Amino acid sequence: MKMIQVESYEKLSRLAADIIGAQVLLKPSCVLGLATGSSPLGTYENLAARCREGLLDFSQVRTVNLDEYCGLTPDNPQSYRYFMDQNLFSKVNVDPANTHLPNGAAPDMEAECERYEALVEGLGWPDLQLLGIGHNGHIGFNEPAEDFPTRVHTVRLAESTIRANSRLFDRPEDVPTMAVTMGIGAIMKARRVLLIAGADKAEIVEKAFHGPVTPQVPASILQLHRDATVILSRS
Ligand code: F6R
Repeated sequence: MKMIQVESYEKLSRLAADIIGAQVLLKPSCVLGLATGSSPLGTYENLAARCREGLLDFSQVRTVNLDEYCGLTPDNPQSYRYFMDQNLFSKVNVDPANTHLPNGAAPDMEAECERYEALVEGLGWPDLQLLGIGHNGHIGFNEPAEDFPTRVHTVRLAESTIRANSRLFDRPEDVPTMAVTMGIGAIMKARRVLLIAGADKAEIVEKAFHGPVTPQVPASILQLHRDATVILSRS
């Protein structure tokens, strides 16, 4: 795997947008696996600017997001669907019908997991999967566990994840404790993986990519990916 260190979050965001932009130019109908959270915000801003300037065309791009909170409807401002609409989809010329997230408010979550797994497989798995990383090493919401969960599944979020996510909610009791996430299988089947991490993630990046491969640090599995790039910013 390739580890790139850059000076700042701005540089990380530009470089990540360069890589994603190159993917879109090479294959205009590519499948992009996308993430939410603070890490990709700058990347999405860069992609939106390039699209506005006519340098990138998302009209044929298909997207699949990693995860969604359970219990939140897509119109809930805290949902990941809302986040993606606000921060990327409404700012590029992607066809909304080609943007996919798991439905965290589905009446039957087991059926929803099967539907989403089949959808991602039907699209031929991501050409490029963008990832952030949790302080505990999670990717998507694959939390530290006894084994690597392969398929789309629902998960009880780790206490540290709930605490980290609570910064975005007004009241602690509103923070969802369950999520639905792509498994490690879909992430590993992506043709290319790009993980972006701010300076506050330096410790877990070291552990994940220079330590043993273990489901206790889910991101460590990426050491076995055929084409994984990690961009870490120093500040
Ligand atoms: C979000 C996701 C999570 C985040 C991770 C880091 O879709 O899959 O794994 O990437 O929790 O979040 P931030 O970027 O907010 O530090």
